Amino acid sequence: MNDELKKAITGAGQEHLLRYWEELTVPEKESYREQLAAVNWAQIPQLAVDYVIKRPEIKIPEDLTPAQFFPLKPVDEAQEKLYASAREKGVELLAAGKVCCLTVAGGQGTRLGFDGPKGTYPIGPVSNRTLFEYFAGAVARTSEKYGRQVNWYIMTSPINREATESFFKAKNYFGLPRESVFFFTQGTMPAFGTDGKLLMADKNSLALSPDGHGGTLLALRKSGALDKMIADGNEYISYFQVDNPLVPVADPLFIGLHALENSEMSAIMLSKTNSREKLGNFCVSGGRTMIIEYSDLPDELAEKRNPDGSLAFVAGSPAIHVLSRKFVEKLTSGGTLQLPWHRADKKIPCLNAAGEPVSPAEPNGVKLESFIFDALPLAEKVMILEGDRAEVFAPTKNATGVDSAESCREMISARNARRLECAGVEIPRREDGKIDAVIEISSAWAVDDEDVAALAAETGLKKILPGSMVAL
Ligand code: UTP
Repeated sequence: MNDELKKAITGAGQEHLLRYWEELTVPEKESYREQLAAVNWAQIPQLAVDYVIKRPEIKIPEDLTPAQFFPLKPVDEAQEKLYASAREKGVELLAAGKVCCLTVAGGQGTRLGFDGPKGTYPIGPVSNRTLFEYFAGAVARTSEKYGRQVNWYIMTSPINREATESFFKAKNYFGLPRESVFFFTQGTMPAFGTDGKLLMADKNSLALSPDGHGGTLLALRKSGALDKMIADGNEYISYFQVDNPLVPVADPLFIGLHALENSEMSAIMLSKTNSREKLGNFCVSGGRTMIIEYSDLPDELAEKRNPDGSLAFVAGSPAIHVLSRKFVEKLTSGGTLQLPWHRADKKIPCLNAAGEPVSPAEPNGVKLESFIFDALPLAEKVMILEGDRAEVFAPTKNATGVDSAESCREMISARNARRLECAGVEIPRREDGKIDAVIEISSAWAVDDEDVAALAAETGLKKILPGSMVAL
């Protein structure tokens, strides 16, 4: 280890990390040295104080107001015209190859408790197709529909990069042209113990974790993804999370409205079902759009009502965005970007004081993550469009219960039933109105109502039988 690095580590009060140095083999020393050299030691003491020893103080701006948004359905003729032009614009941009898709898949998916990258989770209610296959099908169908191959960027973490790429290779990239799929890796942050000392995963390794989906922006720059977008003429990035198979991978209306409004970063909002729903809240302060996390929104604001009784802070975030590539270029132009950190208390496997590996049953440390939505206040112009929850949002966070694989499968089936019903197909329903069938439609065939109607007509499908499992 060179003196400079050693000095930086001890200067940051983290000399315990070198406790086992003399016991390590030469290759172990080399890999550990690389890991240590990648840490920004100058910022560690301040982070330890501000985020670990003290809890970060959340300051709610006094001038906080609810963010404005475009409603799901246009309210008047002028808006109807605007939406029609936006849809047209979106189609035009897709046809011209100006749009690419970006899936963030670097998370650890701890709540789902699935062994492997979350994208390889079998979510198809009939076919068991994986989350990645859903998106791949939708990217393929979108490309076919608008006559231009859509590039697909997939962000992984260093922890799941290899497993993710191997999965795609084994599946032959789901039939997508190899050059249209681009993997890139996000950065990591070392985890802290509650005393502000960094945790070690092993005698020759820090306990590192992905640096949050906010890491996407810098990772796009560092990985060369931005350069590829420039070379390919991709100007708009359709951003979505790996755990939401209902998401439209590239919605012409959303993309077109983003472009027509000259927005730098846009977002889909969902009307919250109750004042305490666990969605970030779209707000405005000092003319800047921002998200206040549900846990940080004070009760009096969360409960605040409009004269008609509806929630004042009604706009919740399902983490669906469009970003202008130029905005990402601007934010990362110096090769750096520091979004605010968010603290998460977690159970972090690590070495104990005796140098033995432990898997704690209770949270024993702090992970710091940055969030993509913290780029919203940095945008000169933000556009927010209301989405229909049942059509676009089925997060797979947990194995069972709320926001689970179970609820996601039900929502996939329900959306398919609705789409088929609109196309004139008879759908069996129980007395309580629930659909009495499980219905899956391949995203490679259909990404919207129009596609489903065409599919129903082509296949001559008239009726779904009660209790059946149908895969189209
Ligand atoms: P979540 O916040 O749900 O985190 O990520 P997670 O890691 O997937 O799941 P838990 O909290 O451990 O159960 C939302 C989206 O952001 C991505 C995830 O892959 C998911 O698509 N993400 C999250 C990243 O790409 N990188 C990160 O560092 C964190």
